Amino acid sequence: MPRTTLQERDFDVEFRAVTKKFGLVTAVDDVSFSILKGSFHSFLGPSGCGKTSSLRLIGGFEQPDAGEILVNNKSVVGVPPYRRQVNMVFQHYALFPHMDVATNVGYGLRQQRPRLSNKEIQQRVGDALALVRLSGYDRRRTWELSGGQQQRVALARALINKPTVLLLDEPLAALDRKLRKDMQVELKTLQREVGITFVFVTHDQEEALSMSDHIAVMRDGRIVQEGSPTELYHYPLDRYVAGFIGQSNFIAGKVIETGNQVAIRTPEGVVLRAPPSPKAKPLLPGESAVLALRPERIQLSTPEEKLPRVYPGYIAQSTFLGDQTEYHIRTETAEGSGVGALMVRTSSANSHFAPGEPVHLSWEENSGLVLLDD
Ligand SMILES: Nc1ncnc2c1ncn2[C@@H]1O[C@H](COP(=O)(O)OP(=O)(O)OP(=O)(O)O)[C@@H](O)[C@H]1O
Ligand SMILES: [Mg+2]
Repeated sequence: MPRTTLQERDFDVEFRAVTKKFGLVTAVDDVSFSILKGSFHSFLGPSGCGKTSSLRLIGGFEQPDAGEILVNNKSVVGVPPYRRQVNMVFQHYALFPHMDVATNVGYGLRQQRPRLSNKEIQQRVGDALALVRLSGYDRRRTWELSGGQQQRVALARALINKPTVLLLDEPLAALDRKLRKDMQVELKTLQREVGITFVFVTHDQEEALSMSDHIAVMRDGRIVQEGSPTELYHYPLDRYVAGFIGQSNFIAGKVIETGNQVAIRTPEGVVLRAPPSPKAKPLLPGESAVLALRPERIQLSTPEEKLPRVYPGYIAQSTFLGDQTEYHIRTETAEGSGVGALMVRTSSANSHFAPGEPVHLSWEENSGLVLLDD
């Protein structure tokens, strides 16, 4: 659905020019966004960029210094956390260690007034544990659970009050890679099943790309770009976003021609052409820019194959990744023809290059983007 046709009620959370300062640090700097009802919305960015602060503002654990925060189209500034229809799963598991699983999960329900019957609490704890696939774990102690199971208990505890919005602060960061992958799939499935809006914070771009409907990339308390995973992957605004979303090679130079195709000249004098990012403001001659090239867009050939427009180099390192092989290539900068060090990924089935071997690199003129260097 295009955003322009949306009614106000389709948003669960909105920030309007929100600023939050801690002493001299501006953790959230004049940020505006809206989060669609029922969506999986992620904040992605490096440590200290303001992700947790943004979540805590939505949850009511912090108050903004300026701006307006809306949950369900109502201003919540000054409304305490327990009066917002929002629950949070914290960056570090916060299970109560002296309580068993069922008591942890039912904690929020037992705080409700008027009191719920024990039978109802038991029923809902059972339902919540079933939702996170931990039926039968009621009497386990928290130290008898694996990291992934603890995380699922924390999720069940946050879901039991049926919040409209669930805030998740790097909930998978403490898990090992395999478990994290499994939990990513489970979380996404769970979100579809319950239909609750998930606001998810991560500094792991792969995680954000694979799970989100919408990603906001943050830097120094601001949102630098937001959009769907494919939009951000294919049309990053600048080098920062391109470097954060997926992997890219960056070949730096100065802009010498602009228009539908931008030309840059590298310090070695190589002229490279590619389109600009369709969403970025136009580049100006003389500006510092990079050609951003995804590793899978570069073709490798042997020097014997006579392809047009090639850059000579040699294999510095080869890493077998299963179905793909990743090569680090050094180009021959000494001859004034080089573009630096590049990373190339090809299907392992067609890969037969060994370290030290000379290769030719080539790519289609439209396969990269020229982006502002920052
Ligand atoms: N309670 C606080 N008091 C003082 N400064 C704070 C406080 N909370 C956050 N900050 C500062 O605000 C900035 C943003 O912090 P925040 O926790 O939002 O970052 P983050 O993106 O969640 O980082 P990480 O990935 O490391 O969790 C940081 O510079 C941090 O030091
Ligand atoms: Mg954080």
